Amino acid sequence: MNIKKDIFPKNFLFGTATSAYQIEGAANEDGRKPSIWDDFCHQPNRIIDGSSGDIACDHYHRYQEDLDLIKTTNLDAYRFSISWPRVISNRSGKINQAGLDFYQRLTDGLLERNIAPYVTLYHWDLPSYWEEKGGWLNRDTAKAFQEYAVIMAEKLGDRIPHWITHNEMWCASFLSYEIGVMAPGTHDMAKALQAAHNIMLSHGLAIEALRETRSDIKLGIAPNYLPSYPSSDSEEDKRAAHTFDGYFNRWFLDPLKGRGYPQDMVEIFGDMMPEIQSGDMEKMALPLDFIGVNYYNSNWYRHDENGGLFKLKKEQPQGLWLTQDRDVYAKGLYDALMRFHSEYGFDNIYITENGAAFEEQVVVEQGIKRVHDEGRIRFFKEHFVEAAKAIEDGVDLKGFFLWSLMDNFEWPGGYTIRYGMNYVDFETQERIAKDSALWLKDFLDS
Ligand code: FCB
Repeated sequence: MNIKKDIFPKNFLFGTATSAYQIEGAANEDGRKPSIWDDFCHQPNRIIDGSSGDIACDHYHRYQEDLDLIKTTNLDAYRFSISWPRVISNRSGKINQAGLDFYQRLTDGLLERNIAPYVTLYHWDLPSYWEEKGGWLNRDTAKAFQEYAVIMAEKLGDRIPHWITHNEMWCASFLSYEIGVMAPGTHDMAKALQAAHNIMLSHGLAIEALRETRSDIKLGIAPNYLPSYPSSDSEEDKRAAHTFDGYFNRWFLDPLKGRGYPQDMVEIFGDMMPEIQSGDMEKMALPLDFIGVNYYNSNWYRHDENGGLFKLKKEQPQGLWLTQDRDVYAKGLYDALMRFHSEYGFDNIYITENGAAFEEQVVVEQGIKRVHDEGRIRFFKEHFVEAAKAIEDGVDLKGFFLWSLMDNFEWPGGYTIRYGMNYVDFETQERIAKDSALWLKDFLDS
């Protein structure tokens, strides 16, 4: 399949995304404090290869070179996250100037290269000094997030126009507190619901305060969206898919649109429901300037009487092609975008993450190191086509951020799962452009 950039509108933005803990390293430098991810990685059996983000891509020291990679790939924008424990030293909100300086330099570097910065305030690295007080189970953390957000907007808001409060609230809550494979790693649905509530509250508090701090910045959030299809046309399977959708998607999207928590799910969760104070739901629903959607894959569900709280089991159809860690269904991206547009009425939509991982090898050809990642090129093309179709069908899609600029610390997958368009040799920190980066460069030039 051959595609050209002109399937997208003229000013469509192409970018790439990363997050602080996954790339920065320098975990103990310049006054950075530990986060729940430092603590989690240093516990036994949490990360598949026993690794951590202590060094990661050493981006903290190599950011200039990394920004050059963005530029040479002809990308317009870069989505990165700020490490809260790097910039704020304690619960009283003391600013760590050295940490802040890093983000000043990074922003300078982007603007010098004419790359538009999109910043995420929270990509899962909660300061451990807040975890000691209960972390996201404690409402004080939401208030602290608001204060941190305001400080960042005061310091960087003059040069960064686009601000994302949270990345993937489902992961930060359910995956972290119920399923327990992410920090802080507990297995308790009630805790997950409380964490999700306080995270969404922190979003609302931040939006409220950021509006007052700077009227000129654009505010959004980046939920992950998982299309949930029924395995058959039976009413039971449809209900199963709808329930999963309630747990993963509607639980966050409905409150953002002022619809409160979905009633069918409230009934299922029963006495596990979180503590909700008056005014909380209103804060969560404060208007946004844009919305992100992180899309990777889709799931299918069948009704199953023995299938736990939600009475369902996952059942993927035959024939999906596979990456290292997921199956691929590009049309799910189209469906996601259509739903954000028609059912939720969102405009100014960005795909804030989409990408794929493969097991890859470096080969040397005529003295040049190459990584032949045809799978990733196929993945990019298939998803570009679906995004372009959604625009044609009326979705107000403004940009597309690919995950990720380079291989990095892939959470519980450590360094075994490579999502980068640039290969990273973690022994030497050498970056090698994969074929997908070279393809993208040409595509964006076309
Ligand atoms: C998303 C995360 C991102 C990265 C990709 C592969 O869920 O937001 O940090 O791990 O998956």
